Amino acid sequence: MPDRLTLYTIISAFWVAFLGILGTNIVVDKLVMPTASSHSEGGEQVFAYPIEVQQEAAAGGGDTGPAQRPDIRPLILAANVEDGKAVFRKCASCHTVEAGGKNGTGPNLHDIVGGEIGDHNGFKTSDSLKAIGGVWTVDKLDDYLENPKRLAPKGTMSFAGLKKPKERADVIKLLLENSPSAPPVEAPAAQ
Ligand code: HEC
Repeated sequence: MPDRLTLYTIISAFWVAFLGILGTNIVVDKLVMPTASSHSEGGEQVFAYPIEVQQEAAAGGGDTGPAQRPDIRPLILAANVEDGKAVFRKCASCHTVEAGGKNGTGPNLHDIVGGEIGDHNGFKTSDSLKAIGGVWTVDKLDDYLENPKRLAPKGTMSFAGLKKPKERADVIKLLLENSPSAPPVEAPAAQ
């Protein structure tokens, strides 16, 4: 049986340890997370310090494109037109791609790469599509074809999108083959 003094020593040692842990937690809460903004929102962790890359991308404007996306160029350079034609079967119910092809549910896509967005072959495109602005670069096509509603939320292309990067690269390769005015696709600079 330990004597009284030993018991007191053990109990107070526990107290010191307990208060120490408590104290550290308070210090961490108050100092490391001063805004106490590390909380859950709809089950998603919100961090006190957002990762810088995300902030930069957000500062880049409405275009969710190239800044955050893996560069599609290497896949386009490796793609072949035959695979592109196979993917284009998913588009062919609405689009033609050859020179002089008719508009259908969607516009003829001849010479689309490098062409102005939403202004093709006299087809009446939506304001939402036109609002993307600029010309169709391979990056914008990659973004649009993955999920048309992301760049044109009220656009009228009823197509779920091509989720596989290789499929997008293949079909963009086909569009490039049919875009005599498009600038050449260059390999991304080595990092
Ligand atoms: C169900 C019909 C449909 C399918 C399938 C479809 N599209 Fe479209 N597409 C449209 C319509 C309609 C528009 C015009 C969208 C708008 O005005 O918002 C459009 C617009 C486009 C544009 C922009 C044209 C412009 O004038 O700037 C591109 C590029 C395009 N489609 C490519 C494709 C490709 C590639 C596929 C296949 C992977 C595809 N689409 C599948 C109907 C379709």
